[in-house]
Amino acid sequence: MQHANQRFDAAEAKPPFVLLTGATGYVGSRLLPRLQERGCRVRCLTRDKAKLSGSAFSATEVVEGDVLDRPSLVCALAGVQTAYYFVHLMESSPDFVAEDRTAAENFASAAKQQEVRRIVYLGGLGDDQDPGLSPHLQSRHEVGQILRGSGVETIEFRAAIILGKGSRSFELVRSLTNRLPVMICPRWLDTPTQPIAIDDVLAYLTLALDLPAAGSRVFEIGGADVCTYGDLIREYARQQGLRRYLIAVPVLTPRLSSLWLGLVTPATAAVGRHLIEGLRNPTVVRDNAARDVFPIDPVGVEEAIRRA
Ligand SMILES: NC(=O)c1ccc[n+]([C@@H]2O[C@H](COP(=O)([O-])OP(=O)(O)OC[C@H]3O[C@@H](n4cnc5c(N)ncnc54)[C@H](OP(=O)(O)O)[C@@H]3O)[C@@H](O)[C@H]2O)c1
Repeated sequence: MQHANQRFDAAEAKPPFVLLTGATGYVGSRLLPRLQERGCRVRCLTRDKAKLSGSAFSATEVVEGDVLDRPSLVCALAGVQTAYYFVHLMESSPDFVAEDRTAAENFASAAKQQEVRRIVYLGGLGDDQDPGLSPHLQSRHEVGQILRGSGVETIEFRAAIILGKGSRSFELVRSLTNRLPVMICPRWLDTPTQPIAIDDVLAYLTLALDLPAAGSRVFEIGGADVCTYGDLIREYARQQGLRRYLIAVPVLTPRLSSLWLGLVTPATAAVGRHLIEGLRNPTVVRDNAARDVFPIDPVGVEEAIRRA
């Protein structure tokens, strides 16, 4: 059986590269050691090499590139068989939807040009048919469509909040709960979601290298529990021995929520706003194909928070 990561360059007798974009980010920086442990020949892409200096990446190449600069991607993708796409621009751009679209188009066409075998992308859960889907989640789905549209086999994983130390969405829950004994929260407190532990996300992403070539696929991934954001706050508080009171109000707008977040958490108000807008959308696994295809038994919320 031919796997995506098993074509060797006969001339060089070296395994092909796995390209890791977002290598300095939350997910990418945690996937890198797993790829290295597997013996993958990894090339990391970052806009600033200095961010990866000092790390013990002897067998790993680091290249500078920018997803908004297509020629830099053509160079970075040379000799690559599998490329992980973990980029999002929402922090840096006021018009992140357009920029994420351009970035994905650049990456997709450069990957096609360089005959990349497989793109592995981590996006967000959420129902495409939901007319109220937030611009952030719509954009995450659009990026997946663009990558698939390139003709390069694309494995898209869709996840809700990732539970792990350093995950932006988890840190938001943590900061809020640590700082505020009484929280006045909008209706998103009751939105259903299916958080997933970072270890389980990394397991899916690693095993994506071994999937037999069978065309592009979307896998919805989640932990063992469906809960609400309120439940997450309460469970984190319970484990920390904190007494917290949550008061739901129907009228706190995303803008007010983000300004409020900007005051009480390390996340900037702009990022908070994008995240908050997404919190009104249910993010629950509706297609269980991932559970059939991958030998992974994801942990539930209690265990994931305990580990985080
Ligand atoms: N964290 C979560 O809870 C969560 C949940 C569900 C899905 N996801 C998805 O997982 C993926 C990764 O998320 P993350 O939380 O790991 O992100 P992150 O920590 O914010 O990292 C984002 C990465 O994007 C890179 N980047 C930004 N602009 C770039 C540009 N113009 N060119 C090249 N690289 C650029 C940054 O690299 P440099 O600064 O080094 O260039 C950085 O490593 C995203 O698609 C996200 O939607 C995350």
